[in-house]
Amino acid sequence: MDPEHLPDSILIVDFGSQVTQLIARRVREAGVYSEIAPFSAAEAAFERMRPKGIIFSGSPASVPDDDSPRAPQCLFDSGLPILGICYGQQVMTHQLGGEVRPGHETGEGGEFGRAFLTVSKSCALFDGLWEEGERHQVWMSHGDKVTRFADGFEIVATSDGAPFAVIADEERKYYGTQFHPEVVHTPDGAKLIANFARHVCGLEGDWTMAEFRATKIAEIREQVGDGKVICGLSGGVDSAVAAVLIHEAIGEQLTCVFVDHGLLRQGEAEQVVSLFKGHYNIPLVHVDVEEQFLGGLAGETDPERKRKFIGKTFIDVFEEEARKIGGADFLAQGTLYPDVIESVSFTGGPSVTIKSHHNVGGLPERMNMKLVEPLRELFKDEVRELGRELGLPDAFVGRHPFPGPGLAIRIPGEVTKERCDILRMADAIYLEEIRRAGLYDAIWQAFAVLLPVKTVGVMGDGRTYDSVCGLRAVTSTDGMTADVYPFDASFLSAVATRIVNEVKGINRVVYDYTSKPPGTIEWE
Ligand code: XMP
Repeated sequence: MDPEHLPDSILIVDFGSQVTQLIARRVREAGVYSEIAPFSAAEAAFERMRPKGIIFSGSPASVPDDDSPRAPQCLFDSGLPILGICYGQQVMTHQLGGEVRPGHETGEGGEFGRAFLTVSKSCALFDGLWEEGERHQVWMSHGDKVTRFADGFEIVATSDGAPFAVIADEERKYYGTQFHPEVVHTPDGAKLIANFARHVCGLEGDWTMAEFRATKIAEIREQVGDGKVICGLSGGVDSAVAAVLIHEAIGEQLTCVFVDHGLLRQGEAEQVVSLFKGHYNIPLVHVDVEEQFLGGLAGETDPERKRKFIGKTFIDVFEEEARKIGGADFLAQGTLYPDVIESVSFTGGPSVTIKSHHNVGGLPERMNMKLVEPLRELFKDEVRELGRELGLPDAFVGRHPFPGPGLAIRIPGEVTKERCDILRMADAIYLEEIRRAGLYDAIWQAFAVLLPVKTVGVMGDGRTYDSVCGLRAVTSTDGMTADVYPFDASFLSAVATRIVNEVKGINRVVYDYTSKPPGTIEWE
């Protein structure tokens, strides 16, 4: 965020916990803006954000290890309230002069999972929520524990495995919880975090999407000046929201390019064109390059080569169109917060490429363009909220994520126009039934897959020999992990019947019961 438009905020220092993002979510749900910075970059983030409160996350590391991470001293010197969660509590204790010992030394082991604590004293964190003597469920996940707290602290709640379940120094406004308030298994956790943000840090909780929109518009105007911006629309929610926001900021200085590669879902291209040209009157270059994409994909069956071809061709087409309109100074992208957060690794080493995801990466340098990424601070559901705030229709904003390479990665084996058409029909029936059953919003992503396998069937009195269609539906919060959506068998058989009856070329339907991991969400 630009310093002139800084909202009141809380800085979350990430020590590498799996659930740090949830802390940011909970703070924002309390109406307070928050950002995550890895511990190694926390000092710079502190100076840039000028926050009103600080939260230390958990960590897989162990405070007694000499090389485990520490919080920058400037955070303690700032005089701001601090909430330390799990490792955060321990590192705060250690840095302020208390003692933390590894679980194996205390001989008591750790506490993992559901636990109960007893409130021994009131404190600002518990305001209006927990009273002395009450017992409450929390979620623990720790091996090490605080064995002596730092000067100024007192115990305000205890659990069987953690005598220092919650400690507080009300004078300095320092709080430490051994449990994780950010996870849903601590039922009052969100309220505890809201108490920290509002009662302890004294923040109003008035951070809204309307405010974000106004702030961002000012920021985009400042960044872009009278430059030209180009934005690639994918048909998805993120690029659409980014484009509408940027258009509101700079009007006709923005040109949108919609590369229609023929691998979109039923009716999708028409929707994008009518939304942008008709509804918003945003200049839109609609390039129909189906033949170029399908021609290049002919005969190709390798998933990675398919992805690479699509990614490269997308960039070539986009670049060509950008040249035609006389180039641009900026490239707008719908990058989201989860893609931006620098992950903190304690194990080191590069991560394995499971799939090469395609975006317009590489273009900005090649064309000497700077990036405009107005959604970099937002989570997916916040982008949806911003989209609604900008007047995008609910049905568009609430759409399931759709991958850049489109249907090509939902047609294992060779992609042809005929197979794309078959898949589009099956997919549309599946989604129509999901919507009709009122399940669409409960599912992260649902789609059909067309398999390169033919099986024998019987319809009427005749033999059929046609393709198999796979159905996938998962729940997820960020696409990194996913659970299978548990449809009723009667729902699935109704969908299967409709698909086999209505889509020529499919005579068998199967449901994918694989979670992620070990499966991925898409089939290629
Ligand atoms: P996987 O299949 O890796 O997918 O479990 C995780 C999420 O990412 C989406 N996905 C993509 N999105 N370009 C995108 O923009 C891609 O190349 C791509 N591949 C997968 C997928 O739909 C799911 O939401």
